[in-house]
Amino acid sequence: MESQETSARGVWGSKVAFIFAATGSAIGLGNIWRFPTVVSQNGGAVFVLVYVLAVAVIGFTVMLAELTLGRHSQRNPVGAIDYIKPGSPWKFIGYLGIITGICLLSFYAVVAGWAAGYVFKTAAGAFKGQLTAEMTTKIFADFSSDPLQVFIFFGLIMGLTIFIISKGVKKGIEKWTKILMPALFVLIVLLAVRALTLPGAAKGLSFYLNPDFSKLNGTVILFAVGQAFFSLSLGMGTMITYGSYISKSSNLVSSAGWVSFADTFIALLAGLIIFPTLVSFGQPVDVGGEGLAFQIFPLILSQFAGGYIFGILFFTLLTVAALTSTISLLEVPVSYFVDERNWSRKKAVLVIGIFTFILGIPSALSMGGMQFFTKLKFLGFFAFAFGNISLAVGAFFICVFVGYIWGRKKAFKEIASGNPRFRLRYIWAFSLMVLTPIVILIILYFIKTIAG
Ligand code: PFF
Repeated sequence: MESQETSARGVWGSKVAFIFAATGSAIGLGNIWRFPTVVSQNGGAVFVLVYVLAVAVIGFTVMLAELTLGRHSQRNPVGAIDYIKPGSPWKFIGYLGIITGICLLSFYAVVAGWAAGYVFKTAAGAFKGQLTAEMTTKIFADFSSDPLQVFIFFGLIMGLTIFIISKGVKKGIEKWTKILMPALFVLIVLLAVRALTLPGAAKGLSFYLNPDFSKLNGTVILFAVGQAFFSLSLGMGTMITYGSYISKSSNLVSSAGWVSFADTFIALLAGLIIFPTLVSFGQPVDVGGEGLAFQIFPLILSQFAGGYIFGILFFTLLTVAALTSTISLLEVPVSYFVDERNWSRKKAVLVIGIFTFILGIPSALSMGGMQFFTKLKFLGFFAFAFGNISLAVGAFFICVFVGYIWGRKKAFKEIASGNPRFRLRYIWAFSLMVLTPIVILIILYFIKTIAG
């Protein structure tokens, strides 16, 4: 058997380490910041229902495809495809992933910077005393429109990401995720319990969990599927890259299942916090914007004895959760330049990191910092274009490539290493080759409706 432990690229220290790292990539702002916002804007419970279905069927399918391709080739997304179809134009899937990763990171790191900024805001006592929703809305508006503060924390996040990635896979990614993800989980459960016991919680819950099917339309499905890709880190090769570090003895099917489950669980919990709190503080449930999570979490934290300490802890852990995602976003282009272009790791990290920072400037200025970008709703536009459409397009081609070009039988064989009896393989293959690509094509069709 081939020993991966001797590979120069490095492998995860253990199966658990991989799971933590992949979960760390998946769990981030997508769960706590973006999920409640898209639920709020897309009809509430009906969106939640479509979302869970999208994760279970489409998300799981693509996740397993990416991990399988990555482990088989032990390469970055471009190299992985080239390994299987040398010199073929299919490599564009990898390039698309690299571009998507850089664009995604450029706005994601801005929002991660808000989370980091909120650690300091909370510590400085901004959320002490009796809070109202109007107050936290104003605090967020003042903060996110102040270029100085936004740039300091955006720069901090990019700097930390660059620092961690330059240390490499094992020392960097593994160490962080192992300790801090479980802590975030415990804190979120505590917050959810508190939110559910607020006066008015039931009404918030009903919007969140009691579906109104008259609100189901193409836009809901488009956003649900897009959010599933975003939240599970799919469609741009992150899981190809992470899969390339998994050992041959690991079970890819249970890994994909576990990561999808943990990610969805955290997102659902975040909703259990946001919606009851909104109603309890007299706010409408269906007008969430980019600031929703930042306006609402301080409110629920203020309902805790010891909310001050909890608040600092919460925003610290949110920042860390975002960082375990930013490092996975940067790792995709970096692994390409290191593997395929023979750049040193340090050079790749620095060049791409600085480029991404520059690309993020419009997003950083789009919450009131500069009229021009604010009017364009630049951050929202980037989030939609790269955090939704681009990932869906990438996922479509990954399915087609794994299912038809590489071929399902070869994929089965790779999965069999670590899981000799993959019972659901024909169902997976059907989803990979027929269902998922068709659903993606249909949702891409709906973009016209949204634009129009
Ligand atoms: N999944 C991350 C989140 O939910 O915050 C965001 C993300 C990370 C998307 C890595 C895509 C990716 F490749």
